[in-house]
Amino acid sequence: MTQAQRQLHFGLILAGTGSGWGDWRHPDAHPKGSTDIDLYIQQAQRAEAGKFDFLFVADSVSINERSSPHYLNRFEPLTILSALAAVTRHIGLVGTVTVSYSEPYTVARQFASLDHISKGRAGWNVVTSWLSGSAANYGRPEHPPHAVRYGIAAEHLKVVQGLWDSWEDDAIVANRETGQFFEPAKLHALNHQGAHFSVAGPLNIARSRQGQPVIFQAGASEDGRNFASRQSDAIFAGGGSFEEAQGYYADVKRRATGFGRDASQLLVLPGLRTIVGRDHAEVERKYREARSLVRIEEALPALGRSFNDHDFSVYPLDEPFPDVAALGSESNRSASERIVKLARRENLTLRQTALRVLAPRDEFVGTPDKVADAIQRWFEQGAADGFIFGQVLPGDLKDFVELVVPLLQERGLYRKDYAAQTLRGHLGLPVPENRYTSARLTATPQPAEV
Ligand SMILES: Cc1cc2nc3c(=O)[nH]c(=O)nc-3n(C[C@H](O)[C@H](O)[C@H](O)COP(=O)(O)O)c2cc1C
Repeated sequence: MTQAQRQLHFGLILAGTGSGWGDWRHPDAHPKGSTDIDLYIQQAQRAEAGKFDFLFVADSVSINERSSPHYLNRFEPLTILSALAAVTRHIGLVGTVTVSYSEPYTVARQFASLDHISKGRAGWNVVTSWLSGSAANYGRPEHPPHAVRYGIAAEHLKVVQGLWDSWEDDAIVANRETGQFFEPAKLHALNHQGAHFSVAGPLNIARSRQGQPVIFQAGASEDGRNFASRQSDAIFAGGGSFEEAQGYYADVKRRATGFGRDASQLLVLPGLRTIVGRDHAEVERKYREARSLVRIEEALPALGRSFNDHDFSVYPLDEPFPDVAALGSESNRSASERIVKLARRENLTLRQTALRVLAPRDEFVGTPDKVADAIQRWFEQGAADGFIFGQVLPGDLKDFVELVVPLLQERGLYRKDYAAQTLRGHLGLPVPENRYTSARLTATPQPAEV
């Protein structure tokens, strides 16, 4: 793809209210919004008006009394995405499901169903789960170690994708005259036997519009990068500077090439949080408002999440960041490593670290022009193919769509309208041919063209 054709991609994290920033206490916030479908519909429709590629519902399967409000009380992703499919027309619908606590047969059915319901807009964010408390909710004696989790992920995903090919595209003929419902030769069992899963198949739902729903991943450790660059279509990247993002981008693209893939078919989408104001005074006011809502009692649990929900309230706040690296390496390895490195490099106290982790990157705080410039720089200088947008305060998404999106459109970097019907279409990804159809076409010599 040439630089001129290349277009930015945006996803919106549909996060309800209260992910650690104190946003749920904002006067315009809906404090119990995480389980109010109307809030989700409003955001979904706003993102669709901004021509976003997709909505993304994150998830985890363990809470405790220290978890942030949104984690304590939120929707299961496939359920809310199915509801949103009915009130949106174009935007993609991406949901997290963990491989460590789900069965591939169920996951394959769920995403195939969402793909049918939404007429080709489904995507799966494949996660391994980093909170060890998850095990007790599924009757497991222990949470699998980090390396084992990525082994489970690789096999789980292969099984799900195998099941999605159970039916060839034209297998269901439903012929009233002959009484034939399907062609038996075009229905395939998987018969998978592996280290973690044993699944016979076939799947009890026909191949969906995208053939294979789009795969998202966010691995950032060594194992995570290999998994993501080998088996996913799009990668969410975490925090870090422009230079770190460039390094990550180059690294996963290089790995993808090493796995025999076309690296332009693997999209890298760093997290984006913006604070936009029409002029400097408005930016300053919004920034101060955002900072004033953050309370250290809420920032500590948000920080602790990457360290297996560690309780940071037991340490003195104004002393150097405690030595907790070991807790992070079995949990959210890359995010925890980034936090430890930042605290060491800048000699930060616990309080400073917790507050810094929640602060947006400076270059995305400013007037619409400044924010659009920063987005363009990341996009054109090898740090991003697009972004996964996280709103914090009520109004963040509206400001972005009204003030920044038109600038990106004017600059020819971003679509003015949807040109495709499916999530694959928005992302520029082809529909993969059914593996059995491909095998048959390769095996059968085609008649010569006359
Ligand atoms: C934008 C973004 C969204 C993520 N969403 C989820 C999620 O919904 N559920 C989850 O368990 N992990 C989520 N993660 C975390 C990743 O799945 C992964 O655990 C993390 O990046 C650490 O990877 P590593 O173990 O390879 O270092 C997300 C990460 C990013 C950057």
